[in-house]
Amino acid sequence: MTEQDFILKTYNSKIENGSVKWASPSNIALVKYWGKKKHQIPENPSISFTLSDCKTITEITYSKKNEDGFSFDVYFEGEKNEAFKPKIKTFFERIEVYMPFLKEYHFKIETTNTFPHSSGIASSASGMSAIALCLMSIEKELKTDDGNSKIDNKSYFNQKASFLARLGSGSACRSIEGEIVVWGENETFTQSSDLYGVKFEGDVHSNFSNYQDAILLVDKGEKQVSSTVGHQLMYGHPFAKERFAQAHDNLAKLKTILASGDLNEFIKIVESEALTLHAMMMTSMPYFILMKPNTLEVINKIWAYREKTESKVCFTLDAGANVHVLYPENEKENVLEFIKNELVSYCQNGQYICDQIGQGANQIQL
Ligand code: PMV
Repeated sequence: MTEQDFILKTYNSKIENGSVKWASPSNIALVKYWGKKKHQIPENPSISFTLSDCKTITEITYSKKNEDGFSFDVYFEGEKNEAFKPKIKTFFERIEVYMPFLKEYHFKIETTNTFPHSSGIASSASGMSAIALCLMSIEKELKTDDGNSKIDNKSYFNQKASFLARLGSGSACRSIEGEIVVWGENETFTQSSDLYGVKFEGDVHSNFSNYQDAILLVDKGEKQVSSTVGHQLMYGHPFAKERFAQAHDNLAKLKTILASGDLNEFIKIVESEALTLHAMMMTSMPYFILMKPNTLEVINKIWAYREKTESKVCFTLDAGANVHVLYPENEKENVLEFIKNELVSYCQNGQYICDQIGQGANQIQL
């Protein structure tokens, strides 16, 4: 697939209005995407677990209009929201060439998250993928009898949804499908693409069934440095070349680990990836730190717990201070006890969210 394959050529502009709705999950990267080229093309491949319960639910109502230009309103948790508009406008500008009907309709975008408001959880992956999926459903409703029937093909639908989501926020392209998604060209997965995420089709050992992710909300504040700025700082970064090569290596290793179920090796890759991501931030120019003292406290507690119990619990980090605690389902009772007894005190207001690996986005019938 190339960009050209995603250009919508004909559509039925007689349709006056309609509504579509999707629930789309967040995802957590195991091998991290950090550094991009123009047009949201990643510098290195990444792989993620799709989450199950941390979702954005978005309904888009479209109605025909006459004036020129983009026209849309955004409602977040029931209230009109101006703050999200610039990001969505940029998104519309980027995708207009693939969705030429965008200027013909007014869009009412109503969105809610299942996770607490301002929890510091990145909502751009779930949020942008939910909008992309709604727009794909609108494209489907505007289908003509002849021209664009490839939209009925589920694989094309998902690929284009992922392609569009990527143009909203890179990691959002990994939120369309479950349970494991790869994004970015690499030698290990020949089907993978820089343009969209693809479902991981390799063998997955039962050790990873219903893999758990407890998200500890260590710091819910606004990040001092956005991901956009962080990615840019990988240009001319002294360790960029080695880091990008390392991501390719880790992806190849992870493929073998996912098949063998070797959780000790899994831990090594996942924790090293998280710390490397933050090491890149600390060695950028200007340098910055997104971890907080409690992030390190939690990491040390996890290491001590593992030492003591031989548990396979491990951590990973996003571009922020919160800690994702990953563990196999058969340790659920023990790890939740450990979190309650030893980690909750490091979370802001004692807050954490229990989630697990999920199946991807769902359309909600209206
Ligand atoms: O999708 P963005 O541009 O917000 O970048 C997110 C990057 C990380 O979350 C840090 C890593 C990843 O692969 O999700």
